[in-house]
Amino acid sequence: MCGIVGYLGKKSAVPLILDSLRTLEYRGYDSAGIAFLDDDNLFHIYKAAGKLVNLESVLPDSTPLKSGSHIGIGHIRWATHGAANEINAHPHHGGHQEIALVHNGIIENYFEIKQELEAKGRNFISDTDTECIAQLLEQLTSEMPSDTPEQFRVVIQATLNKLVGAYALSIINKKFPNHLFAIRNHAPLVIGKGENEYLVASDAVAIISHTQELLFLKDKEIAEITPEGIRLTRLDGTPIEAVLEHVELGPLQIDKKGFKHFMLKEIYEQPDVVRNSLSGRLVSAERPIRLLPGEPKDSLKKQTLDTILKYMDRIVIVGCGTSFNAGLVGKYFIEEMVSVPVEVESAGEYRYRKPIISDKTLIVAISQSGETADTLEAVRRAAKLGGKILTITNREDSSLARESDIVLPVRAGVEISVCATKSFTAQIIVFYLLGLAMAEMRQTASESQIKELKTGLLKTPALIEAALSNPEPVQAVAKQYGNAANVLFIARGINFPVALEGALKLKEISYIHAEGYSGSELKHGPIAMLDESIPVISVLVPGVVFEKMISNCQEAKARDAQMIGITSAVIDSQKAESTFDDLLQIPESLELLSPLIATVPLQLLAYYMAEYLGKDVDQPRNLAKSVTVE
Ligand code: F6R
Repeated sequence: MCGIVGYLGKKSAVPLILDSLRTLEYRGYDSAGIAFLDDDNLFHIYKAAGKLVNLESVLPDSTPLKSGSHIGIGHIRWATHGAANEINAHPHHGGHQEIALVHNGIIENYFEIKQELEAKGRNFISDTDTECIAQLLEQLTSEMPSDTPEQFRVVIQATLNKLVGAYALSIINKKFPNHLFAIRNHAPLVIGKGENEYLVASDAVAIISHTQELLFLKDKEIAEITPEGIRLTRLDGTPIEAVLEHVELGPLQIDKKGFKHFMLKEIYEQPDVVRNSLSGRLVSAERPIRLLPGEPKDSLKKQTLDTILKYMDRIVIVGCGTSFNAGLVGKYFIEEMVSVPVEVESAGEYRYRKPIISDKTLIVAISQSGETADTLEAVRRAAKLGGKILTITNREDSSLARESDIVLPVRAGVEISVCATKSFTAQIIVFYLLGLAMAEMRQTASESQIKELKTGLLKTPALIEAALSNPEPVQAVAKQYGNAANVLFIARGINFPVALEGALKLKEISYIHAEGYSGSELKHGPIAMLDESIPVISVLVPGVVFEKMISNCQEAKARDAQMIGITSAVIDSQKAESTFDDLLQIPESLELLSPLIATVPLQLLAYYMAEYLGKDVDQPRNLAKSVTVE
């Protein structure tokens, strides 16, 4: 949510900052901006509402942009305070174009600071919370000594000490053209050290093509970056050693590989994602699951993992959005296999409750990005109370991964589309592996059941391939119901979370109102809405709740709803005709594994409906991929 970039070095800053911002656009695309000092020490700020291309189009084609600037900062915005227009775009300055800064986060006491500064005669021009940081900084430079970098640093400290909230900041000051400042507090920030250059970014992917020597800032740390090195201190000025890590992270592949959108490409990557996620962990139905392949047998991590697998008597899964839905599938599966109670909590709620945690409570944090502010805070809260933290994430380099006892990477590969698809599937795979590993350790399921599930998992990539091989019926349904104003998704049992996920996908990218319900819940309220204008999309696979789902579908059909069934069952043609207007067939799998297959047509349906409606599929309005504000 918001992406920030900074550069200090010998190369031309502007093109480099723009390139890095391009890789961060998943974090927001409401506006973009850049500030830099040219070699005559003149300040330049350019901003534009909308996507980065709009900023590029307003940048003049002049020398400082191409070669004459070696220090600068850039920003792409996901609006929190103030509309998504040019004035509210970052970088912000304090009114005199001497100090500029970019910000990711929310300043909770901005209103009080603004009032105080306005009383001192300062004029605010934007509606953002960020401007109060720039104005405060400039005000304090007029009240405190600020003629040397050391003094300016003390002014920054004084400014930060007045702020309440979350911030990652990068700051430049006209007086010190060889100094770039970077600060983190509850929002991610990484510094890269290249050859004669330093880069700052919200995410390592933005700078990894320049350097793999990275310093991940911790909360309340200030970095003063100069050509001589990084000087790191705490907010109170205490010096800390700046330790760089060598991080192997492939450069971001921004290639649609012939697909019209990243979302479609990522949906079609799922068979390979499953193979990758299983690789080394589930080798054959006869061999035990290895959650951490390659880890030395006697390592501390292995011991922690063994404790988790053998002794934890309660599991609390925390996550948001799609990750929350994946967690629900995890709950159904782990409870079935291990008979341990599992709760799934919305991280934003959990973090403000009074969690009940014992030394035998396992907290499973689930997050594609590993940077979701609510999930991170929920985990911090639980860790303080003694919970063991196991994180399932697509980003091993994320803040969440760094703060966990054990990390299980989902290995989905970088997901560009804001709407999560392949990461959901990979998250579910890891929950299956976790449940199976626990069941093996504790012997809570029969050998034959475990073997059957392992065989089923190994067959999954082929089944997903089959589900993807014939998109035409899904396209036809998308077109037929593309103009609906409301859509309901229903399912039961382990596919109930799939109904929630189907509705979330549709809402996100087509802006059609959609809700997911358990089929059993329909008659407790939502059925009152039903008439011939409402499509009801039902997922029903053979198993415990199949007949119940058929009854729920008939109840909806009796209220004239448009019924679309997604099933792997062979339903008697008369029964099918009397219940469904359209039936989408999916490959048959074990009931417990069926969410992996049933999700695919729902992802495709959301995609084709949004595409039919001409929506911006990969960058839907108001959303961002990494939700770093609460
Ligand atoms: C939906 C989607 C969001 C995220 C949610 C949590 O397509 O992407 O609902 O799932 O913002 O993000 P992570 O998984 O990064 O914690």
